[in-house]
Amino acid sequence: MPVLLFLPIWAYIYVGTLEEPTRAATGIMAEGLEVFGAKCAACHTASGGGSSSGPKLDDGEVLLTFPDDPDNLGLAQQVHWVVQGTNGIGEGNPYGAAERGRLAGWFANMPGHADDLTAREVLAVVLYERAAHGASELAATLAPVAEEALNDEALVLPEHFTEETSVADVADLLAPLMPSGESES
Ligand code: HEC
Repeated sequence: MPVLLFLPIWAYIYVGTLEEPTRAATGIMAEGLEVFGAKCAACHTASGGGSSSGPKLDDGEVLLTFPDDPDNLGLAQQVHWVVQGTNGIGEGNPYGAAERGRLAGWFANMPGHADDLTAREVLAVVLYERAAHGASELAATLAPVAEEALNDEALVLPEHFTEETSVADVADLLAPLMPSGESES
């Protein structure tokens, strides 16, 4: 694998913003940052520090709820969560890692994003959150892999994820990106 894939995320952003402006403009991390600012920061704040409208995501909190694991189901579960929101999961129903004990509605009501974000935007914002707020090296590594796969159509996403899209659907779709090359789901 190219050495670039193992650079930490700040190096990726640095290279993207200062030396390759066009890549920064189209890069999936830049897209994720933009989506986060437009659609998520109002409640979670730009830094992911949280507010009375949305829980804290930074300092690795987001990875406690949606952990990185060999099959990267945490990534798929987080995509599913962002698409569904509180009502889509159903108040009182669990989401994320069982040990975390999250039940939809524990904090407040998060809107779902099936309609107002494309599947690509959801993937971008989730990779961004995991890399920037969760300090996930896996997400930082996957971002350029995902971007390349989208560009050369090795990864083809639907226009939108919908309420019918399951965690397993997302995991299957993203399986070709995973370091192991496939998912067990
Ligand atoms: C209107 C406020 C609001 C907006 C906008 C919002 N969220 Fe949330 N978010 C919440 C709330 C409230 C919760 C907790 C949900 C619950 O209690 O059911 C949450 C939970 C989460 C969680 C799980 C955190 C955990 O540890 O349980 C993630 C991840 C998340 N949001 C990501 C996002 C992303 C990505 C976006 C933008 C696409 C977004 N949120 C937009 C309010 C919001």
